Amino acid sequence: MKIGIDKIGFFAPNLYVDLKDLAEARGIDPNKFLIGLGQSEMAICPETQDSVSLAANAAYNILTEEDINDIDLLIFATESGVDLSKSGASFIHGLLNLKSNVRSIEMKHACYSATFAVQTAKAHIALNPTKKALVLASDLAIYGLNNSAEPTQGAGAIALLISKNPKLVEIEDDSAFLTTDVLDFWKPIYSDVALVDGHFSNQKYQESFIEVYQAYLEKTNRTINDFKAICLHTPYSKIGYKTLKMITNEDAHPELFNNYQLATTLNRRVGNIYTGALYLSLLSLLERANLKYGDRIGLYSYGSGAVAEFFSVIVSKDYEKHLNKDKNDHMLNNRMKLSIKEYEELLLKKIDGTDITFNQMDKKDNAYFYFKGISNHQRLYAKKHNFE
Ligand code: COA
Repeated sequence: MKIGIDKIGFFAPNLYVDLKDLAEARGIDPNKFLIGLGQSEMAICPETQDSVSLAANAAYNILTEEDINDIDLLIFATESGVDLSKSGASFIHGLLNLKSNVRSIEMKHACYSATFAVQTAKAHIALNPTKKALVLASDLAIYGLNNSAEPTQGAGAIALLISKNPKLVEIEDDSAFLTTDVLDFWKPIYSDVALVDGHFSNQKYQESFIEVYQAYLEKTNRTINDFKAICLHTPYSKIGYKTLKMITNEDAHPELFNNYQLATTLNRRVGNIYTGALYLSLLSLLERANLKYGDRIGLYSYGSGAVAEFFSVIVSKDYEKHLNKDKNDHMLNNRMKLSIKEYEELLLKKIDGTDITFNQMDKKDNAYFYFKGISNHQRLYAKKHNFE
């Protein structure tokens, strides 16, 4: 039985920072960000969006009534969850009006958890072929102001509907993975921002790639020539490019490098979305590359801390008929650019537990679901135009 990704939904918040503006404000040559990191813009959340509402919006973009009836597993993968006890999945279950007989859970392992969720969903569908599983990968990548990781921030969510006979890609069975105990990136419970040992995290990302990629090739007896494209976890687009260059070069495999550029087009405009970043790259590739039924795409997932996994998917027949490229491009093209002052003010705002109500239209947030505020220490979400 073929099991894989039937639909991909994407949602980015309506605000962004142009990295040329950020470079100018920080007294840095813009080419460091544009060429050195390979990033051009980063998405920023208004106060009315968080990891829960972003995820609900990404799912809302793809789900039909039929999907809602068939879903019996919901996994919310995030490292920017809103509560240490109540699962974001249960908020989302309510917002999406899913049926009650659904298993739901929130998962965390830095940028790896969405891949664990996808593999778990695949196993679930193997046992329950008439059902569907909804995997939501949603994050706000925030490192704070005036540090070297600042240009690699971002925000957004990916929704993956996993089913049998998938319309987009089939997930193959051969997967190679590893766990190591390293402190390359972490977010202490007392900290509002993630902490990162940037160059060490790059090193672990690349070392782990070589290890799981080689293990995958040995396990499958495949070679690099079996891939039409390779998508990598993309905290910023240059890291994946440099990592691909560890196994080949542009003269030997020009198509792999061309497809890598297409696979990072969305990431360069959204920034890092942590655990959804690999799947944003896959979406970017599917929407832009010239793929054929049966083409194999390699996927490299990396989550600091660290877990890495290399696996592959096979492109489905007529996959291009089931994408929403124009809608996704329209969403990114119609965001509001923040001045650096506005961005800094937004990033420094904190929720301290006192009751607060946000006005969705303050920052022209036009999303279907939004975070309405706090009342009596409870988080409240609402649907657009549902003001009280
Ligand atoms: N024009 C073009 N390129 C330039 C440049 C300029 N004027 N100035 C610098 N660069 C290049 C550098 O040569 C370097 O490229 P290289 O790595 O290919 O040599 C790149 O820009 C980055 O410069 P660097 O000095 O290494 O940046 P940094 O130390 O300020 O920080 C990160 C870079 C990625 C370490 C930092 O942004 C970070 O910590 N990000 C978050 C961590 C992360 O995403 N980790 C990934 C693994 S999950």
